[in-house]
Amino acid sequence: MTDVERYLLFGERKIAGWLDPYTAEFIAAISTVQSRAGLRGAVGEIGVHHGKLFVLLCLLLAADEAAFAIDVFDAQDLNTDGSGRGDRDILEDNIRYWARESMPRITFITKSSLVVGPQEIAQRCGPVRLASIDGGHTAECVYNDLKLIESTTAEYGVAVLDDYFNADWPDVSTGTADYMMEKGTKMRPFAVAPNKVFLCRSEYSEFYRQGIRERTPFRRYKESRMFGHAVDVFHGLPTAPPVGIYLREFTRNSMFGPHLIRLKRRLARAGQGGVRG
Ligand SMILES: C[S@@+](CC[C@H](N)C(=O)[O-])C[C@H]1O[C@@H](n2cnc3c(N)ncnc32)[C@H](O)[C@@H]1O
Repeated sequence: MTDVERYLLFGERKIAGWLDPYTAEFIAAISTVQSRAGLRGAVGEIGVHHGKLFVLLCLLLAADEAAFAIDVFDAQDLNTDGSGRGDRDILEDNIRYWARESMPRITFITKSSLVVGPQEIAQRCGPVRLASIDGGHTAECVYNDLKLIESTTAEYGVAVLDDYFNADWPDVSTGTADYMMEKGTKMRPFAVAPNKVFLCRSEYSEFYRQGIRERTPFRRYKESRMFGHAVDVFHGLPTAPPVGIYLREFTRNSMFGPHLIRLKRRLARAGQGGVRG
């Protein structure tokens, strides 16, 4: 079982935040499509809260890739619509627990995204291949964040936009529409999964739609249209994980896990004739 699989099965549910488990797997699948095609780059998120999605992004990093996390953290007066509440200490604890090796490659930007320039991300992380937009949910923030991510992504970069269809946050769709209607903007939707819209430059839309169809277990529920572009709509279960692995990992992560691991080691040593107590 890989670290990503372990996090999807056991970690994601332990971190407070907002991320549908199906969508978490779908995001990992997008990263797989990229890595199988040799597409490299940074990953990152605007609006990390405790890292539920950000930890997953860190686990998707290749050894030479970097990550960025933008959040107002303690400056919650800048969180004007009260969407979530970033906490840097909890976030770092979660990264250390689930994705420790990525820590040295993470740039934390403690600011409102409204004052973050693309060069701050580009200089430290290089071109971005996969970024989540889940910071301020005002129309101003969403418009700003789409522009910011557009100007930092590689040609083949993907943006994952939160809450577009969530009736609790109506201005997410307003900010998105402002961006879509502006001449010259480049990111366009190509897929919809529970509570997220996936965008890329339209030249890459077919690459991702075909990649998901042919290289991942995900099967679209239907094809639809959004802002004049074809989008695949996903919901439902991907392939079930093997039950044996699930049970083993469940036991390992339970309170009995450490005892069972110690017992297993003792038995192994005894089998080799070397046990001493
Ligand atoms: C909905 S939560 C993010 C949830 C997170 N993506 C997850 O996986 O659970 C929104 C986050 O955005 C942060 N935030 C709000 N306004 C912001 C702004 N203008 N710039 C940067 N971060 C902001 C909040 O502090 C909060 O941590």
